[in-house]
Amino acid sequence: MEIKIYKDKQEVASQFSNYFFDLVKGKNEFHVALSGGSTPKVIFDILARDFGDKIDWSSIHFYWGDERCVPPTDEQSNYKMTVKHLFSNIDVPEENIHRILGEIDPVQEANRYAELLNTSLTKVAGVPQFDLVLLGMGDDGHTASIFPHEIALWDSKKSCVVATHPESGQKRVSLNGAVINNAKEIVFLVTGANKAEKLKEIHDKNEGYKKYPAALVEPNNGHLIWFLDKAAAAELA
Ligand code: 6PG
Repeated sequence: MEIKIYKDKQEVASQFSNYFFDLVKGKNEFHVALSGGSTPKVIFDILARDFGDKIDWSSIHFYWGDERCVPPTDEQSNYKMTVKHLFSNIDVPEENIHRILGEIDPVQEANRYAELLNTSLTKVAGVPQFDLVLLGMGDDGHTASIFPHEIALWDSKKSCVVATHPESGQKRVSLNGAVINNAKEIVFLVTGANKAEKLKEIHDKNEGYKKYPAALVEPNNGHLIWFLDKAAAAELA
């Protein structure tokens, strides 16, 4: 596990963009699962600004680690957020964007998306393998859309599961732990003081830390990097 700590979220975004550029350079096919929520907004803005015309986006296929079960036009949609902050500012072929269909039945979509991963990605030990999975971490320690109250979904045999937000009850489609941990590269993008306490608990492996889904992210053979800003890393030794 590698931890990179930067001044603020703008620097996290800029340094992650450099890392992403180096990772995709020269690759003629690259499959990345994006995270959602609000942290990626500045990441995508800066990635598009700094590398929009330096990356051959036609070689990059975009998926999601999780999506809210809402239409793609909904303000809650991770896809809509990504169009606004990334896709509308880069030249990426439509056929390279593999969104989770938030507007259809969640169970039906989880099954469809699992099949899409099965046919689109290389499999290692029978599990689809992403080149890169981006993750955020909620201040409750969730990641993707695996929340502490239904942590058993992490070990689902299904590559894609239907999760439920603990407060809103909103349904989500999420990758399971097996697909996430099978990735070649896993990057956590975590910023803000509200994440500091959980980060410390997970980093220090405090009693009971494994009740947080973010603590279960352990790449099988890949590489895990945490991109943090100072505020989120404030309680790390
Ligand atoms: C989502 C995300 C989710 C997010 C965390 C952190 O769909 O909301 O995929 O896992 O990464 O909730 O969200 P912030 O980065 O906005 O704090």
